[in-house]
Amino acid sequence: MLSKCSSPPINTLVSFHLLNLTHTITSSTINMENLFRSPRLIYRAIEDTPEDEAFIHSIQSDIVAFANSDTGLLVPMTKAESKKYKHKLVEKALLAAIICLAPPLSSPASATPPVPIGCISLKGVDPSQARHRNTFISIDITAPYQRKGYGSEAIEWVLDWGFRIGGLHRIGIECFSFNDGAKQLYERLGFVYEGAQREALWFNGGWHDYVTFGMLEGEWKARQEKTLLEKVTKKD
Ligand SMILES: CC(C)(COP(=O)(O)OP(=O)(O)OC[C@H]1O[C@@H](n2cnc3c(N)ncnc32)[C@H](O)[C@@H]1OP(=O)(O)O)[C@@H](O)C(=O)NCCC(=O)NCCS
Repeated sequence: MLSKCSSPPINTLVSFHLLNLTHTITSSTINMENLFRSPRLIYRAIEDTPEDEAFIHSIQSDIVAFANSDTGLLVPMTKAESKKYKHKLVEKALLAAIICLAPPLSSPASATPPVPIGCISLKGVDPSQARHRNTFISIDITAPYQRKGYGSEAIEWVLDWGFRIGGLHRIGIECFSFNDGAKQLYERLGFVYEGAQREALWFNGGWHDYVTFGMLEGEWKARQEKTLLEKVTKKD
């Protein structure tokens, strides 16, 4: 019979779990088939189709979302402007994807394409800047799908892609000082407040700050390990 004293010391247990974690992480790097998928979402390329053109235009012409996320002048958006924006995303972004609702893994391939609910990208890095391994996220979730956790899930996914696949060292995310929801969300996801360009933005008759948050590779890894360790210890 094991006495309490003969149970493995806590450090041994933690080492064992960390070993398992390393195994899990290593396995997941080999197992790539679900790379463009997170629990409820899939991420697909932006295609040169009228459907994707119309979808990007619907995002760009949502004036509330635009006012919360784009420094451009608030004027009615033409389809031609949206098309230019779409081309820029496809041509220049490090990663650009349409976020869609995922069909369940268990169900057979459906005839209807997955419903698009947003767009996410990592800004492209000029080759002369590549050694800094530093870029930032842009994200839009369409109004009917906001506040359901999809934005968080997509940001977690793009962080995983950026650090594990894209080889990045820092990933930033920016917002306007009046966008309290976005600020709250980014801090909850583990981004660190890095500062603000004071009164850099003129909106709606007043000056506002341009706020920057960032996550470093090491911070992301520590968060991943903490989450996995919490899962493992919960099971015990
Ligand atoms: C900001 C955005 C990406 C967040 O995605 P989302 O799917 O709506 O967010 P989630 O459901 O994952 O997280 C919701 C949490 O984020 C915060 N939040 C996000 N948007 C908010 C808003 N408009 N008002 C208040 N809180 C908000 C809250 O903490 C909220 O938690 P709660 O619902 O429990 O209060 C999305 O709402 C969006 O695209 N908005 C329009 C454009 C925009 O603001 N882009 C960000 C500019 S940097």
